[in-house]
Amino acid sequence: MAKYRADPFDRKVDLGVGVYRDLSGNTPILDCVRRAEKEVLAAQTTKSYIGAAGREEFNGAVEELVLGSGHATRRDRRARTLQTPGGCGALRVGAELIKVAAPSAAVHLSDPTWGNHAPLLGGCGLKLERYPYYDAATHELRFEAMLERLEAAPAGDTVLIHACCHNPTGADLSPAQWQAVAQLLERRSLVPFLDLAYQGFGSSLEQDAAAVRMVVQRVPEALIAVSFSKNLGLYRERVGALIVVSENAARADATQSHMLHIARSIYSMPPDHGAAIAARIFADPTLTARWIEELDAMRTRMQEMRALLAQRLHDATGDDAFDFIRTQHGMFSLLGVSREAVERLRERHHIYMLSDSRMNVAGIMPDNVDYVAEAFAAERG
Ligand SMILES: Cc1ncc(COP(=O)(O)O)c(C=O)c1O
Repeated sequence: MAKYRADPFDRKVDLGVGVYRDLSGNTPILDCVRRAEKEVLAAQTTKSYIGAAGREEFNGAVEELVLGSGHATRRDRRARTLQTPGGCGALRVGAELIKVAAPSAAVHLSDPTWGNHAPLLGGCGLKLERYPYYDAATHELRFEAMLERLEAAPAGDTVLIHACCHNPTGADLSPAQWQAVAQLLERRSLVPFLDLAYQGFGSSLEQDAAAVRMVVQRVPEALIAVSFSKNLGLYRERVGALIVVSENAARADATQSHMLHIARSIYSMPPDHGAAIAARIFADPTLTARWIEELDAMRTRMQEMRALLAQRLHDATGDDAFDFIRTQHGMFSLLGVSREAVERLRERHHIYMLSDSRMNVAGIMPDNVDYVAEAFAAERG
């Protein structure tokens, strides 16, 4: 980021950053957020403390958004939800909960995964393992290898899975592959920890939650880390939630008291402002409809840029080696080039991305796509 800022070249391109950008290169405040924020401020009468669980109405709405209103776990009172400081807060509280419940259990992370998973989950002393997930050179999932590795994991271990829009690969499991994974988790008594940071960025709010709902239906226990940083653009307000599903309602009550104890012992209580805005949007049908419109527009822009970049790469290379960019999901894809190629892209072409060649497709614009495609074609390998 520092190198990008210091680069005086006028056509430099930032594909490294982890936030959504619109066609002007801004990370906008959504209109539904502006409207809800006004209402929140007008209605607010105090800045007094809230509890460690955060806002009740927020937690209820998040459960409904993620699990769906009729989900059996909600009917059976097996789910408990805690408002957290962003998705990171949810991942950390979840990790601490695992540490209390099963201190010697390992957490299995996908290879590759988002760079913060290891510090967030391993930071409390949990053992981390890796399962094969994606081959950056062939742009394919390593699904058989993934199943084989998980098959060998000891019962009681946790498996962290990106619920949709895998970061950094953009490669998601198909519905049939999710079914196979859910079956394995159930059969081998492994605990799913689903990271849902991009609900609505893949296909729609409903479809992007489908895998979570299906997995949770099958297993006795599950954790879900939810983030509203991307889909509500509330990044710095730190809005997230941890949903934990237990075997029965009595266990869920015990789990909830552990969750509250952990939250109190780390940060006492979550920040209120962003969650108050989110809760307002979830509760008001007009604001919800506006949110869905804005979310659809963000997703469509990313899908259009994926298609345009893949097309331009096809034109520039004469082959279909980059067609995977078109069909992957969410904000990121791995270009699949070497670290040296990433360096050459930066030094010769002023195009910035992470050293593993992760690119943010929201950094692609109609007016830089030709430049980027030609540079990628020139430096591939
Ligand atoms: C895979 C994944 N999980 C969780 C998060 C959590 O984000 P936040 O703590 O900003 O809500 C992110 C954000 O980039 C992410 O990419």
